[in-house]
Amino acid sequence: MSQSWYPEDLAVSPLGTPGTYEFMRTVFAERQHFSYAEFGVYRADTAKTVCALFPNATLHLFDFHQAVEKARAKLSGHENRIYYYGNTDKYNDSYNWSLLKLIESNNGQAMFDYCFLDGAHTAAVDALTFFLCDRLLRVGGYMDFDDYTWTLRGSSLDPARAPAISEQYTDEQIDTAQVKLIVDQIVRRDPRYQEIVRDKVFRKIAA
Ligand SMILES: C[S@@+](CC[C@H](N)C(=O)[O-])C[C@H]1O[C@@H](n2cnc3c(N)ncnc32)[C@H](O)[C@@H]1O
Repeated sequence: MSQSWYPEDLAVSPLGTPGTYEFMRTVFAERQHFSYAEFGVYRADTAKTVCALFPNATLHLFDFHQAVEKARAKLSGHENRIYYYGNTDKYNDSYNWSLLKLIESNNGQAMFDYCFLDGAHTAAVDALTFFLCDRLLRVGGYMDFDDYTWTLRGSSLDPARAPAISEQYTDEQIDTAQVKLIVDQIVRRDPRYQEIVRDKVFRKIAA
């Protein structure tokens, strides 16, 4: 990636997010047909493992255009079952725009069995992402939130490294665990969601 304001290198393991695909192995059979969406694919390491573990899964991968193109190259050979959604790096652009267009093209019908939200980690973007995912998530499906305690300060997006962050967010927002805020104030208050993995995976149990 070489977005104008977003850092090219993030502190993400080359193994991707084992907590996500290891959990998925406990709830999906190897040959099962299901639909997986990932918001923030970075170097597609989690998506690559999901492809390998679940040969019949369909993947929907969302990120900035350049990350999506790199993911497309890395995951070549699986193009018949992966849909890619890129967006620009304009401050108010995000996968939420792609999601809204997907809701439109799918006529509001639920289509995902698993949503892994591992993108902006900010309320401005991801609080809306949760509501849009909820529209597309089937009953019985899972919402997976990465980095419950993560803050902009001290991360790869610390304003000292990514100066645009201090233009976009207040100091309070930079020091607040915003994934925790979304999970605690929106997801946990919704009786349709049951916590399955502490601070991470929630199952949608009612429409
Ligand atoms: C922590 S990384 C994702 C790691 C990946 N899920 C994995 O498990 O390997 C966060 C990703 O979110 C993407 N992202 C952050 N803000 C975004 C936005 N506004 N629109 C699209 N993608 C965004 C970044 O480009 C980055 O690739």
